[in-house]
Amino acid sequence: MNNLVILGISGSLRADSSNTMILKTIQRLLPEAITFRIFEGMDQIPHFSPRIPENEAVARFKNAVRQANGIIISTPEYAFGVPGTLKNALDWTVSTGDFNEKPVCAISASPLDSGGRNALASLLLILTALGTKKHENASLSIAHIKSKLDPEINLVTHPETLIALQDQVNNLLKYIGFTFG
Ligand SMILES: Cc1cc2nc3c(=O)[nH]c(=O)nc-3n(C[C@H](O)[C@H](O)[C@H](O)COP(=O)(O)O)c2cc1C
Repeated sequence: MNNLVILGISGSLRADSSNTMILKTIQRLLPEAITFRIFEGMDQIPHFSPRIPENEAVARFKNAVRQANGIIISTPEYAFGVPGTLKNALDWTVSTGDFNEKPVCAISASPLDSGGRNALASLLLILTALGTKKHENASLSIAHIKSKLDPEINLVTHPETLIALQDQVNNLLKYIGFTFG
């Protein structure tokens, strides 16, 4: 199974988000045969309520999730939790089960020592509630993220972090059934 699509979801809306840079780095670590898309338009997803009909951005989000063979979420931590924007987008998928059985990998990154571990723990719980599939090493928390990026090129450059990200990519692809050439 090598015609695979991986979807990247950033938990940050900031233009120079370190989590979006992590996803852009992952894009370069993936084999060429893999199609990688970072979801754009999280800021157009309205506040979830069961009685509000989905708009175009919600439909696009759900569609992108459904079409993906695997999903990588990279998120900051806000007030010890998952940013509301990301939680809100995930809440839209609860009743329609778009994440059900999807292989996922969860990453948190923070400029602090903690690496956003609280947000990561919370995200993993949410992903369990959504029915996603995870292998035993499907998460990574990255501390001191600012010192591991090159803001000139918008990519992670820290060698050990690159190895950790490559491990995450390879583990997810193996889990999905990608055959490395
Ligand atoms: C409202 C707010 C709350 C935050 N709370 C935390 C926190 O609880 N833990 C933490 O490690 N960092 C916290 N931070 C710092 C973020 O980790 C930091 O801004 C990070 O770079 C955001 O990720 P991004 O670069 O992808 O936008 C907070 C930042 C903001 C703006």
